[in-house]
Amino acid sequence: MESLAVRWRHSFLYLALIYAVLYFLHTNLVLDRRPIRLKKWPDLPLRFRHDGTFKILQVADMHYGTGLLTRCRDVLPSQFDHCSDLNTTRFLKTMIQLEKPDFIAFTGDNIFGPSTADAAESLLRAFGPVMESGLPWAAVLGNHDQESTMTREELMYFISLMDYSLSQINPPSKGLYNVNGGMMTAIDGFGNYNLSVYGAPGSHLANSSILNLFFLDSGDRETVQGIRTYGWIKESQLHWLRSVSQGLQGQNQEVKYITETLPVALSPALAFFHIPVPEVRHLYYQKIIGQFREGVACSSVNSGVLKTLVSIKDVKAVFIGHDHNNDFCGNLEGIWFCYGGGFGYHGYGRAGFSRRARVILAELRKGDKAWMGVERIKTWKRLDDENLSKIDEQVLWELQPSR
Ligand SMILES: *[C@@H]1O[C@H](CO)[C@@H](O)[C@H](O)[C@H]1NC(C)=O
Ligand SMILES: *[C@@H]1O[C@H](CO)[C@@H](O)[C@H](O)[C@H]1NC(C)=O
Ligand SMILES: *[C@@H]1O[C@H](CO)[C@@H](O)[C@H](O)[C@H]1NC(C)=O
Ligand SMILES: *[C@@H]1O[C@H](CO)[C@@H](O)[C@H](O)[C@H]1NC(C)=O
Repeated sequence: MESLAVRWRHSFLYLALIYAVLYFLHTNLVLDRRPIRLKKWPDLPLRFRHDGTFKILQVADMHYGTGLLTRCRDVLPSQFDHCSDLNTTRFLKTMIQLEKPDFIAFTGDNIFGPSTADAAESLLRAFGPVMESGLPWAAVLGNHDQESTMTREELMYFISLMDYSLSQINPPSKGLYNVNGGMMTAIDGFGNYNLSVYGAPGSHLANSSILNLFFLDSGDRETVQGIRTYGWIKESQLHWLRSVSQGLQGQNQEVKYITETLPVALSPALAFFHIPVPEVRHLYYQKIIGQFREGVACSSVNSGVLKTLVSIKDVKAVFIGHDHNNDFCGNLEGIWFCYGGGFGYHGYGRAGFSRRARVILAELRKGDKAWMGVERIKTWKRLDDENLSKIDEQVLWELQPSR
């Protein structure tokens, strides 16, 4: 009986949440006299452009508060008086106009809970420019998003209902089995999902996923043997990742059949989450592109994320946030780990050190008559300085000819 009561309470909370979403997103409904709809959807599926490219904008750590009244942190004294969350909004609008991305990935700490009394309002303002742009987007949570009026589950629920959002709360648990063969009822965290990018229009791969995007919830904080540490990606999530990757590679057998000339069968994948894995620390001693300006604030627990990524083989690069002053890409066992670099003005940073964003560009291989699968993945960053300087351009992955 008690569990029924709990379930009813949850149902009620969801209804209340949906009502709140409708209220916030469509307050103009009554004026417009348009029929009610829950959210606006972008054109789907995601697919490469006619010119054989697909561009992603990574926005890490917006740290949005309430808007005009939320002051900037770590800017020069001369900049302080006229600086607020609105500068973050302006930077996002500028990046969308300048780079014209096909998709935007927000890698957590999208809002800074302690600086807002209303998480819904903060989310609507933070994601305002992307909802206005009509571009498809998706987000994962960081460790600060839930420090206001919504739990992590409520946040992902809300984000998944926002205009043009492709974010999901979690995969359906049906059909997922745990290691012991039993039914897995749930997956840890909120915001674990995959998205597919299809081949160029009119090409043989127009109906096939040729670039896969994995989103994972790296949690917020945990206590391990009495010591506080950051969250980590749990085995249930890694298990899900392995099975999704395997499923996609199965579908790829068909892709391989269609394109006999394609030397490899694997469609590359990219992963997005907030908190770095512990191995990112090793990059201090290795050649990196970009800057290592602060210690890596990761969990004390190593749950084997890198090992899993190496074993599934399709993930070529991982995009993280969390440490705002780090903006480098470094390679661990063949997989690139790239920081987005702090984007938001209310997040900590360094005075005189521009806020920044990362761009990821995937390019297709040109076949005899039409576009084929992915040939190359590149990345660079843009600074929010007077020239919107483009820096640290590099190739992350290239198709290896198998001859
Ligand atoms: C923030 O925006 C204001 C108004 O557009 C501008 O004057 C100011 O220079 C910006 N500050 C920073 C640090 O970019
Ligand atoms: C892709 O699907 C569309 C609609 O179902 C179909 O018209 C088209 O022929 C398909 N293209 C390929 C290459 O399979
Ligand atoms: C996620 O991956 C599975 C294969 O494991 C695939 O069937 C499904 O369509 C993918 N989801 C999306 C939204 O692309
Ligand atoms: C912007 O470009 C101009 C002209 O090339 C240059 O003089 C200036 O130093 C640049 N500013 C920054 C912040 O890079």
